[in-house]
Amino acid sequence: MPATGLEEAAATLRSGGLVAFPTETVYGLGANALDATAVAGIFRAKRRPSFDPLIVHLAGAADAARLTSLPPSAAALAARFWPGPLTLVLPRPRDIPGIVTSGLDTVAVRVPDHVVARELLLRAGVPVAAPSANRFGRLSPTTADHVRTDLDGEVDVIVDGGPTRWGVESTVVDARGDRPVVLRLGALTVEDIEAAVGAVEVRRGSDGRPATPGALPSHYAPGAPLRLATAGHPPPADRGTRACLAFRTVPPGYAAGEALSPDGNLVTAAARLFEALHRLDAATRERGLVGIVAEPLPEEGLGRAVNDRLRRAAAAQD
Ligand code: TXA
Ligand code: MG
Repeated sequence: MPATGLEEAAATLRSGGLVAFPTETVYGLGANALDATAVAGIFRAKRRPSFDPLIVHLAGAADAARLTSLPPSAAALAARFWPGPLTLVLPRPRDIPGIVTSGLDTVAVRVPDHVVARELLLRAGVPVAAPSANRFGRLSPTTADHVRTDLDGEVDVIVDGGPTRWGVESTVVDARGDRPVVLRLGALTVEDIEAAVGAVEVRRGSDGRPATPGALPSHYAPGAPLRLATAGHPPPADRGTRACLAFRTVPPGYAAGEALSPDGNLVTAAARLFEALHRLDAATRERGLVGIVAEPLPEEGLGRAVNDRLRRAAAAQD
């Protein structure tokens, strides 16, 4: 993207417009976080319920320290993982309007590790509230084309930075207390966080309620019905009417298939997840297939974040 394009995008943000931009995780749909009317535009464009709070994106860790206070374990995580796919839940400063945080007394903040995002944030000179740039409940976008397809006509500027690196969203961590609590599994693995700051709690919706408001069971749904192959694949005779999302190799007989990583690399698999689901979704629609059968990944590292997304996609069909 030429610098003039970025300057125009930054000016659009400053004047209250909506800009879709790449980050290292997925594309975001940004608005000036200090401008409640601009932020309302995000909810309108996404058809997002107003109870689901947004992440505020900043150009550097120093901006976070200026915006709010970082308790000790938050500061340790920020020092270790920013810029990067880590979102910290912090005390909400007064100048962040309630629409950003859905009225919570906390604000989610992150410093993206992407040259285009960083340059845009620097030029805009304001904190940028941005959810993933998709309609509410749909797949997260990992290319500018996904954004165009999903939010056509709803966005003032789409900054194209090519496919995103991680392909799953940031890990959301509440680090206000001594022991950090992971509210949403994401691109930064629990193992990496624990190696840096010791044991963390991974919040499960034990009472059936999601840990973060955005972690609704039905999130991340493709249009086609998706079923997890937890107990193995359907018999070969049933595969001809189905598409398969496989980890290493697509078993024979499926009408369509995507293998996330033939050599079993979880990082590659995560990066390809949403792209592959978008393609299988299209194939299912175009060819009138019954749905998608998805293999769970090994429950470790980025496999946990991918399995979390797949379980939600499957739950959406229930
Ligand atoms: O990688 C990402 O995080 C992407 C890119 C664009 O940065 N953004 C993203 O935003 O995934 P979104 O809106 O799709 O998800 C934000 C998550 C939701 O689960 C939301 O509930 C949670 O962060 N969240 C936001 N503010 C929160 C808060 N104050 N307390 C707890 N959870 C919060
Ligand atoms: Mg989202």
